[in-house]
Amino acid sequence: MLVVVKKNHDEVSREAARVVSNMLREKPSSILGLATGTTPLDLYNELIRMYKEEGLDFSKVTTFNLDEYIGLPPSHPESYHYFMYENLFKHINVPERFIHVPSGMVDVSEVHRINRFCEWYEEQIVRFGGIDLQLLGIGANGHIGFNEPGSSLGSRTRIKTLSENTRKDNSRFFDNDMDQVPKYAITMGIGTILDSKVILLVASGKNKAKAIKATVEAPITSQVPASAVQMHKRAILIVDEDAASQLDGTYDEFVTNLE
Ligand code: F6R
Repeated sequence: MLVVVKKNHDEVSREAARVVSNMLREKPSSILGLATGTTPLDLYNELIRMYKEEGLDFSKVTTFNLDEYIGLPPSHPESYHYFMYENLFKHINVPERFIHVPSGMVDVSEVHRINRFCEWYEEQIVRFGGIDLQLLGIGANGHIGFNEPGSSLGSRTRIKTLSENTRKDNSRFFDNDMDQVPKYAITMGIGTILDSKVILLVASGKNKAKAIKATVEAPITSQVPASAVQMHKRAILIVDEDAASQLDGTYDEFVTNLE
């Protein structure tokens, strides 16, 4: 695991975009695992800029998103489908048929249908050759995707009940009205994420410091799902100084630049 500490969020975004663009230049048909949330927004803006100004090509790229809320149609402004189209897909030349976001349009009572969908999603990832680079944000509670604390480290794509903490964190996107915040999501599992060839986790801000500390400098535990990345052969964490502020520096793979 490599921990790259950058000055601020902008530098984190630029460095992470560089990692993604280097991969696309090396392998134009890369399979990218993507995340939503506030953290990757500027990284996506940088990729869009590279597409427009530097000819970064997404025409052979396939994408798989980590997660989606259950119950929100793709047209809902807070659905992850909507987020991805608004903030990335509609601005670049990734072919529609190569885009995969888990479907939230299932009824939680239809367990078999949900399970079948989750198996299908896993099969698609394998059919396309596996994820080359999985982008991750991290929740203040250490979640990755919607794998909340307590998620099994070997878990695969499945339905999850969202923790109260995460629902509260995300209520800001739903007029701070907890009744509107979905209770369930479909998410890739921790095992699914660990199967990716490269993991790129980005974090910025003081509110992520505790989670980053627990991810980097504490024992691996399902109580901090992100700590599972310690087991990965090629995990890169790009964090800003605020998110790194609780690290005590005993970890010996800190760098400030990848090159
Ligand atoms: C989103 C996702 C989540 C977020 C995490 C951090 O697809 O999987 O795990 O990455 O909640 O969110 P932000 O970036 O909004 O702090």
